[in-house]
Amino acid sequence: MTPYVLVSRSAEYETRLRTLLGERLAVIPGEFLTFGPEAVASRLPEAPRVALLGPVLNFEETRGLAEALTAKHPDLGLIVVREQRSDLEDWVDELELHAVLSPDASDDTTVALLDRLASWMIANGRASLHDFDAPLALEIDDLPFVDLTGSTVDEPEAAEVEPSAPDWEFPPIEAGMPTEAIAVVAPKGGQGKTTLAVNLAAGLAEIAPNSVVLIDADLQFGDVTTALALEPERTIVDAVADAAADEIVLKTALTHHSGSFFVVAGAPSPELGDSIPTDALGRLIERLRASFRYVVVDTTPGLGEHALAVLEHITDAVFVTSMSVPSLRAMRTEFDLLTRIGLMPGNRHVVLNQTDRLSGLTVRDAENIIGAPIDVEVPRSSAVLLASNRGVPLIHDDARDPAAKAIRSLLSRIAPEVDQKRRRAQRR
Ligand SMILES: Nc1ncnc2c1ncn2[C@@H]1O[C@H](COP(=O)(O)OP(=O)(O)OP(=O)(O)O)[C@@H](O)[C@H]1O
Ligand SMILES: [Mg+2]
Repeated sequence: MTPYVLVSRSAEYETRLRTLLGERLAVIPGEFLTFGPEAVASRLPEAPRVALLGPVLNFEETRGLAEALTAKHPDLGLIVVREQRSDLEDWVDELELHAVLSPDASDDTTVALLDRLASWMIANGRASLHDFDAPLALEIDDLPFVDLTGSTVDEPEAAEVEPSAPDWEFPPIEAGMPTEAIAVVAPKGGQGKTTLAVNLAAGLAEIAPNSVVLIDADLQFGDVTTALALEPERTIVDAVADAAADEIVLKTALTHHSGSFFVVAGAPSPELGDSIPTDALGRLIERLRASFRYVVVDTTPGLGEHALAVLEHITDAVFVTSMSVPSLRAMRTEFDLLTRIGLMPGNRHVVLNQTDRLSGLTVRDAENIIGAPIDVEVPRSSAVLLASNRGVPLIHDDARDPAAKAIRSLLSRIAPEVDQKRRRAQRR
């Protein structure tokens, strides 16, 4: 059985991959591309599952190959083997890839990536366990498998898992890429946390498609799925359950959004949300950081134990307050407390939301009350409520709205690449 196929012009890489995969690898030399991608497709083994394209293939060749191979085998997993270069994100944007692998990645990294893609394909009904006969790190007997009821079955069949498998793409994985976790927090309710969290996820997905996950950790009254018009099958309760220690199970707990990011939906009831242990919430963030470039966390208002648990596991915090004196005072108290207990995040972004000239306060007044500079002002705008009621992130619903522009400036503080990418797209 040859589930893996390599199309490359590097004899050296071919030798390396053959050492790792042995008989399970078929190789089609890149020279066949002289006769067009169809010539390569006609030489595929009988039932390939994963194609590795590269190294030493250019963009046009890779695109032609991706199209020709998936026309023949629509469920084929596609990996581009290419070093990290500045144009790589264009490849990821424009080709229907499942992963990107550096040709210099260690054997362990390479095997782990192939292994993860195989697991994902099996979980999504694109392949069966038997296709990866004699798998890499996967042991057929040991791999827990989930059927529709969530129980473990002995002889998994792809058909059994397919109906419950979510319709989402595997995040592009780039070896060595640092990951960031950003929490959106506020001492009081109704300040705009969910609005910002949803838009941050949507904006970050522009530079890291399918490598962003938004966790609704507002455990009692989370409303991320409402703000995004999603109807999740699974929620955070499934994502933190013991069964989710298995990566496949964890991934089935995610809901895909058409803006190329994933959502861990809020708990189905306040009681269930409250019963989530704080350490399980922290573990969930860490685990998702291992698979996603950006983890965005919407939180419960205040500094309860869940919010503190989130703050222990993040790299950036967006603090949101409106222009009311009680909210600003509460923010000052929150800052004092976090500094005292050593939980003030390294990267802090203070957002003054719903700014309004009629509030009777200036931005300077607000800064004086909270005792810290305001980083971003988001004006009050009816477009925010409209977008939320339509279930669309504001930055996509009404990009010219002043609040949307302000949210973009918050995005570029967190990830300056967002700006570069937009400028490049505008130039094009
Ligand atoms: N800049 C803005 N202009 C106008 N309305 C806004 C703005 N930001 C948020 N809102 C509105 O304020 C309300 C509360 O916003 P949001 O749900 O984002 O806050 P939250 O902090 O998540 O609230 P909760 O604590 O209840 O979860 C929503 O109706 C939202 O549409
Ligand atoms: Mg909210």
